[in-house]
Amino acid sequence: MDKFIIRGGNPLVGTVRVSGAKNSALPCMAAAILSEEEITLENIPQVRDIETQRRLLASMGAAVALHEGDARDHVTISCRSLSDPVARYEIVKTMRASSLVLGPLLARAGVARVAMPGGCAIGGRPIDLHIKSLEKMGAVIVQEHGYLEARVDSGVGSRVGRLRGAHIVFDRITVTGTEDLLMAAVLAEGDTLLENCAREPEVVDLAALLTAMGAKIQGAGTSTICVHGVAKLHGARYRINPDRIEAGTLLIAGAITGGDLIVANCNTAHLGAVIAKLRECGARVDVLGPDAARVHGNGRLRAADISTEEYPGFPTDMQAQYMALATQAEGVSLVRENIFENRFMHVQELVRMGANIKVDGNTATVRGPARLSSAAVMCSDLRASASLVLAALVADGESVIDRVYHMDRGYEHIEDKLRGVGAQIQRLGNVFVPRQEKPSYLNQPA
Ligand code: EPZ
Repeated sequence: MDKFIIRGGNPLVGTVRVSGAKNSALPCMAAAILSEEEITLENIPQVRDIETQRRLLASMGAAVALHEGDARDHVTISCRSLSDPVARYEIVKTMRASSLVLGPLLARAGVARVAMPGGCAIGGRPIDLHIKSLEKMGAVIVQEHGYLEARVDSGVGSRVGRLRGAHIVFDRITVTGTEDLLMAAVLAEGDTLLENCAREPEVVDLAALLTAMGAKIQGAGTSTICVHGVAKLHGARYRINPDRIEAGTLLIAGAITGGDLIVANCNTAHLGAVIAKLRECGARVDVLGPDAARVHGNGRLRAADISTEEYPGFPTDMQAQYMALATQAEGVSLVRENIFENRFMHVQELVRMGANIKVDGNTATVRGPARLSSAAVMCSDLRASASLVLAALVADGESVIDRVYHMDRGYEHIEDKLRGVGAQIQRLGNVFVPRQEKPSYLNQPA
């Protein structure tokens, strides 16, 4: 299994570019199911989850082409024929977001067979709200042998029917739930009103792609979205957003190392909560424009509390990275996790490096500054791995970070990007390359 070897102590200096957003790319790729025509997506990050989504669509009969050369962040998807509307367990178990095909398959084909996503390191993560809402639109969904067997009855013999518009109020805010139902509603009969929706930029990105495909949507980015169903969607070309979580992670890397880092090719409008918190901690952050920000750490950070919220609040996907920063801040920081019930897996690994953190329920108390020393540590999930890399960048000595395949799920060539601004980091093992001819690593457990 791949490892990172990181020697700490170097301030990060220079410019680092952000890749496209994984959490936009995944629903946008699933949206290709809704049309018989080609969809070309640009700014697609070369990360393992995208490779998994490519495999999922290809297994259902879609033609998915990753472009070469300068356009290697382009992917073209044609779902002209969807011979097998099934999301198999072998793929779904490696990535929960695979369940995002449920809504589009029901909307397009009237039938879907999707493996239930199993447990996840950060929490139970059920998809009951997806199922309940699709049932309101006329889907009949039964669970059998670990699969959701879903179909829309037409009431005429065995012929499948079309989803019907409905008024849906989500019991709680769910990002992929909002995205799944948005994709179901665009081809439904009549109007759908979605309330208590997620307002994340990734939802807005998906709605923009669907609109480019001919969908009729209002209110994306607010908690109420109205969709007027249409009979058919056409092809489109669309450039997805930069990854705001990667951008936030890099801003923290600049602050924690006391560096001077420009984070470019990002969308600063999506970074409000993270930038505000960094400034509260005493880091200087200059917004250089709509697509770049500069962070000057001065090595003296002040403690500040965070409480994770839905967008535009402080993102849960930045909680672990922020905790690494808090270990270096003067005073006591309270880190409250409100979205997922088990998202402190990184705490014990940070404590192994010398951090002073106590967990009580959904709150971690971080006392700093702690002198971190290098250690062998292990990644447990995508964002936890980012926090260990950040801690190793300031620890004395050489840390060994194991199971970095977790990080490859959502960060594109992170070791090259960090080395490009002065980090001493190297990978032991194979660099992740998204090409068909390298299936072997996909056998690694999720
Ligand atoms: C999305 O996950 C992101 N994943 C996650 O990013 C992110 O952490 C999360 O939103 C919150 O921002 C993708 O976009 C692919 P939710 P999602 O449904 O949609 C509960 C990363 O690191 N819930 O908004 O699965 C759920 O258990 C990943 O890139 C139900 O109870 O999250 C959680 O406690 C990790 N029933 C809360 O709602 C449901 O049917 C919010 O989850 C759905 C959700």
